[in-house]
Amino acid sequence: MVKIQPETVGLGAELPRHVGIIMDGNGRWATRRGLPRKLGHRAGMERLRGLIRFSSDIGIEVLSLYAFSTENWKRPKEEVGALFELFMEYFLSELDDLHKNGVCIRIMGDMSAFPEKMQRAMEEAMTKTANNPGLKLNIALNYGSRAEVVRATNILVQKGEPVDEKSLMNALYTAGLPDLDLIIRTAGERRLSNFMLLQAAYAELVFTDVTFPDLTDEEYASCIREYQHRTRRFGAVVEK
Ligand code: FPP
Repeated sequence: MVKIQPETVGLGAELPRHVGIIMDGNGRWATRRGLPRKLGHRAGMERLRGLIRFSSDIGIEVLSLYAFSTENWKRPKEEVGALFELFMEYFLSELDDLHKNGVCIRIMGDMSAFPEKMQRAMEEAMTKTANNPGLKLNIALNYGSRAEVVRATNILVQKGEPVDEKSLMNALYTAGLPDLDLIIRTAGERRLSNFMLLQAAYAELVFTDVTFPDLTDEEYASCIREYQHRTRRFGAVVEK
């Protein structure tokens, strides 16, 4: 249900159906303030609440978030532990609210690597919200696009199904969802870092210098506005 007409926040009516956010810069946000990095992740988590609400209110269909990559295990043990605690806290504290707001949660990634109680919290979040009609929220945790493609291919091989574009896309975590239209990466880096590479085949990429905790609704809307000014060709010729 659209609660904010896009025009009232300066957006055109043609919204991206599927937005991905590479939530970068939590560490820098904290360091610049003389705070430990884990407080940057906490600030990121707090900002997430508003961004999910805003996405849902303006009528974005799918929001995919890069929360923990297969490469993030290389971080100091203490930071990885602090992130897991935060993810747990998030699922415990936000689930009821997300559910009430009709959000449907899907975890993308290999959950088996996480502590058991975290796996249970993630399973509960998915099961409880599975039939919700609102925003589809994909959270990438222990996720890497290459690992996702390997997993999808193995699923097809085990089922004895031919691997073609359609079957491969349908064996990804995003089965049944539209491709990404827009990827936003915060904090100035300009790369995809193994995030949803197949789903991003024709996505528009928007980079902003603000760190993730500083990605206000206004800045987010301005990224969407930049997307709305792009001409999408999907490999064809588009007359201007
Ligand atoms: C990248 O910033 C951010 C992460 C690896 C973690 C993202 C996590 C959150 C936003 C917390 C909440 C998420 C959920 C799903 C509850 P960085 O640490 O690489 O920042 P830096 O590049 O400045 O060091």
